[in-house]
This record gives sequence, structure tokens and C-alpha cells, in this order.
Amino acid sequence: MDGNSDRPIGVFDSGVGGLTVVRELMALLPGEDIVYFGDTARVPYGTKSAETVVKFAREDLDFLRSRDVKLIVVACNTASSIALPHLADDSDIPVIGVLLPGARSAAATTHNNRIAVIGTTATINSGAYENALHDIYDGLEIMSHPCPLFVSLAEEGWVDDDVAFMIARRYLEPLAGFGADTLVLGCTHYPLLKSVISRVMGDGVVLVDSATETAAEVRETLASSGLLSESDSGGNIYVYLSDIPYRFREVGERFLGRPIENVEQVKGPGGKESEGECRDMTAGRAASSGR
Ligand code: DGL
Repeated sequence: MDGNSDRPIGVFDSGVGGLTVVRELMALLPGEDIVYFGDTARVPYGTKSAETVVKFAREDLDFLRSRDVKLIVVACNTASSIALPHLADDSDIPVIGVLLPGARSAAATTHNNRIAVIGTTATINSGAYENALHDIYDGLEIMSHPCPLFVSLAEEGWVDDDVAFMIARRYLEPLAGFGADTLVLGCTHYPLLKSVISRVMGDGVVLVDSATETAAEVRETLASSGLLSESDSGGNIYVYLSDIPYRFREVGERFLGRPIENVEQVKGPGGKESEGECRDMTAGRAASSGR
């Protein structure tokens, strides 16, 4: 163990969705502090070009490195699919994405070698999940489909009602007919829709959520580098956003599964250069609405 072990873990996402990964990290590694950056001024990444996603992801990484983190988790499937190789090359600390842990878990789960993958349009178009799965075992049959509206449903909290079910049915019926026994939830928002996705896919299909596998990989990496925290006072999360959208606390707390105390707006990356003092607009709103 060295003096660096009490530094925080850095996590970034295009917005609020990466908090589903933080939730698993905090469950598995309760002694670790976490610095989270959500690029809420520029979300979504899932509809943008590869060039733009790489540029944004590099800036997000640089922001976290400026916070002296010991390891960085790319808690965004779109950035993991498109930008991870560039990020890992640029960094002198470990950078872990959500794609490989999810692909490994799916390959270990399937019995009939048929895997379905859902994600944002950019993730699916990148072919990154297919490539990763075929690298693990080239006999796998894979069918992928983008489900962009799931992101809005998760943020709106419409995760288990008739609207969510109708949209899930429209997206997933072709996949259900493919006969996969395993479905990869290849987007940070999708774990919130597990129940409705399962209703459409049927009980025989296992849903793979890469957040738990990613948390396990983070623990292994920290342990093997002597960087697991031994602090008794850890377990805090500091959230930095490039913009603080209305309802951030409400949505973020649903994703994280616990209250979010520390939220700060930062000037960059993605934040306005002309922004003055950092401020938390949601805190003011929460106070005025009696929360
Ligand atoms: N976080 C993104 C992902 O996991 C979903 C939201 C977005 O499109 O930026 O792919």
C-alpha cells in the first residue's frame, strides 16, 4: 500500500447515467471516495459522431486527472465503445470502461451462444460490443439494436408503466424473436428499465448489467496495484457537472439510490467559460420546493 491509496476514484459519463455504475462501486467499495463528472451541458453522446465523442471524453478525462484521482472509470457505454482506446493511451493511471466487463459477463452467461445487445445509436453503430464479444469467442451469434428513447424514459422516471412497455415492445420484439438467452444492457440508463425489458424478452433471457462487473474490475485493479483505500472516513461522492439541469437531484438520486449532497457546476469541460461562481441551481430549487 502506498500513500496514493486514499485518493478518490474518478468516474465520468455524458450526464447522470453513470451514477448507476457509481451505485455498484459504492456497494462494493464502501471505503472509497468518488469524484464524478457528468457532462450535462453536452449530453447526449449517443447521437454524436465518433470524433466528437472522443474529443469530449478526452476533456472529461483531463478534468478528472486535475482532481488527482487514482483510477478513472468511463461509466458511459458510448464513450467506452468509441473513445476508450484513445483514453487509455493518453493516461498514466488505469482507465476502465464498462464495455469489456459487460461483454465478458455476457459471454460467460450465455448457454446457447446467442447474445442480444442494446445501446445508444452511437454504441450500436460502432460495433464495439460485437468486436469485443467475438474476440472472446468467435462462435457467438450477436444481434444488436439501438433503443435511444430508453434514455429519456429512465430520466423521466417512466420505467415500468404502459408507455415504457409499448416502447420496449417496439424496440425489443425483433430481438426477442432472435432466440438469445442473454441481453446486454449496453447503456448506463437501461438498468432502470430492467423490469419492463424483462417482461418483453421473457424470463428465459438473462439481462447483463455491466455496472456490477465493472465495479469488480475496479476492485481487482486497485487491489493488484496496492491502491485500495484503507481510510475509515471514505465513501463520499463529489459530483461535478458542466451544467446543472433542472431536476438533477431528483433524477440523480433515483440513479444513485441515495441522496446526493455535494453538487458543483464547473466551467470546463463543456461548461461555459463565462460562467461566474460555481453554483448549484438544484439546491436552490430544492430549498424553495421544501425538499
Ligand atoms: N451514458 C450514455 C451511454 O451509456 C447514454 C446517454 C447518452 O447518450 O449520452 O451510452
